[in-house]
Amino acid sequence: MVTNLSVNINKVATLRNARGENAPDVQQVAVDCESFGADGITVHPRPDERHIRRDDVIRLRPLVKTEFNIEGYPTEEFMDLVLKIKPEQVTLVPDAPGALTSSAGWDVAAHADFLTAIVDRLREAGIRSSIFVDTNPENIRLAAKAGADRVELYTKPYADLYPADPEKAVAPYVEASRAAHKVGLGVNAGHDLSLENLAWFHKHVPYLNEVSIGHALICDALYLGLPETIRRYKEALKS
Ligand code: PXP
Repeated sequence: MVTNLSVNINKVATLRNARGENAPDVQQVAVDCESFGADGITVHPRPDERHIRRDDVIRLRPLVKTEFNIEGYPTEEFMDLVLKIKPEQVTLVPDAPGALTSSAGWDVAAHADFLTAIVDRLREAGIRSSIFVDTNPENIRLAAKAGADRVELYTKPYADLYPADPEKAVAPYVEASRAAHKVGLGVNAGHDLSLENLAWFHKHVPYLNEVSIGHALICDALYLGLPETIRRYKEALKS
């Protein structure tokens, strides 16, 4: 099964914002990632605009020719933006506006009505929805019930355990992915995936449509360069 690589370019915006000018050029980096082989571009605009800004998202829309994935907590402001931009995919994450990074999936049962209403609005706009969840089968079942198209599996627990016990680390994701497939959901995955742990994950987890990778990929690019880094991540997805 082909698994797409979506490159999360938030870190590129963080670097740009450090000097208040336009280097590196976030829009150019997105276009270049695609030409180096990325199958999609992910951004996570946050209310404080500390990395990707609303204006970046608007400027990226016509430039991204692969799959544009916008992730975030669905505030009214976020929904206005994505309904206007119409990316191919929106990934719903539960993190509070000031969170450093996403550190958990949704408790879908506790937010079922809210998520169902948001997913309905995305579907009406022709946008694929993905709900960020842990590997708990109940969350996966309820994500399908809410009408989502996909789930994105939160992979930090996998990444943390992988060095000590790769088999144990991947096992819950194999089960979760099977469960998602069974209820008709596509499967994405992301968070702390890296050149070290990606090939094993891909080799074992069935039905994996897409991985979304930011931090480790941009760190690797400092040493390897972006073209070689993207080539290696794509290679890991062939295992
Ligand atoms: N998926 C989601 C929902 C995220 O919030 C993030 C981090 O922005 C990622 C994937 C990518 O994680 P990482 O930067 O660790 O690759």
